[in-house]
Amino acid sequence: MATEQLTEQTSAGRNAYAGVLRFYELAKRQEWQVRDLPWGDLPPIPEGKGSPERRARRKDMWRSVLTQQLQADMLACDMSSQLLNITPDPEARLYYSTMVQDESRHTEAWLKLIAEVGDTAERDPHLDQLAHMTLEADTLEEKVFLMQVFYERLIIARFRLIARSSRGTVLEDLCNRLATDDGIHHGAGMAYERVLLESASKKTKRQLVDAANRLLPIFAAHAMWRPRERAFIGNAMRSRDVQRLREDLEQGVRLAESLGLDVSDVELPLT
Ligand SMILES: [Fe+2]
Ligand SMILES: [Fe+2]
Repeated sequence: MATEQLTEQTSAGRNAYAGVLRFYELAKRQEWQVRDLPWGDLPPIPEGKGSPERRARRKDMWRSVLTQQLQADMLACDMSSQLLNITPDPEARLYYSTMVQDESRHTEAWLKLIAEVGDTAERDPHLDQLAHMTLEADTLEEKVFLMQVFYERLIIARFRLIARSSRGTVLEDLCNRLATDDGIHHGAGMAYERVLLESASKKTKRQLVDAANRLLPIFAAHAMWRPRERAFIGNAMRSRDVQRLREDLEQGVRLAESLGLDVSDVELPLT
């Protein structure tokens, strides 16, 4: 089959791409279906306690969380199919064909989950901005960097957090699957970016650092975004969120450094 052919091609001089191919194989092994989620066995989202008003408020809060993730995955469909279409490398093309499927499966799961709890809520404007930055970036290096190196790594912590707050629900199960999938998306992006940067010009590398400086404040705004439905979340939680976000952003910068980029000019928001 095609994979075996590609594996042979790899041994015949495309060794640098072996890492990307390994993520293709991992993605195929980890593949799941929306029907595998515990629909009907577990409640879709936490049911909440207390007065009907309090429960309605919690439900609105969850609807808003779900809407934000649906929006993120619909945008990820756009970004991953752009990567599939512009990459010149057969190994990366093969890998991106699985990522497109993952992002569209994630979208399907969010659509079904939202249908169980009512309707969508307010759209997160910062997420649209992040996606536009990536879709309109000039180079493949920059697109992989913004989406897979940064965004997909930073979002994993959010999935873990949502899972911890929604024990015993379909939402928890979904978030655990998404944390694994985005771990693969991020790992594949790191492997591919490493290959791309081997032959990238100084100018391209400089542009990546500039792009990180444009992305980080928007990511921070996205992570701290409080639509009407979540406005009641108190200050105590807010300061914990800031702390967590700071750690995530520092991790992002360490990743850029591990790719050999000079990160001395990266400015962290919130510091
Ligand atoms: Fe996704
Ligand atoms: Fe992803």
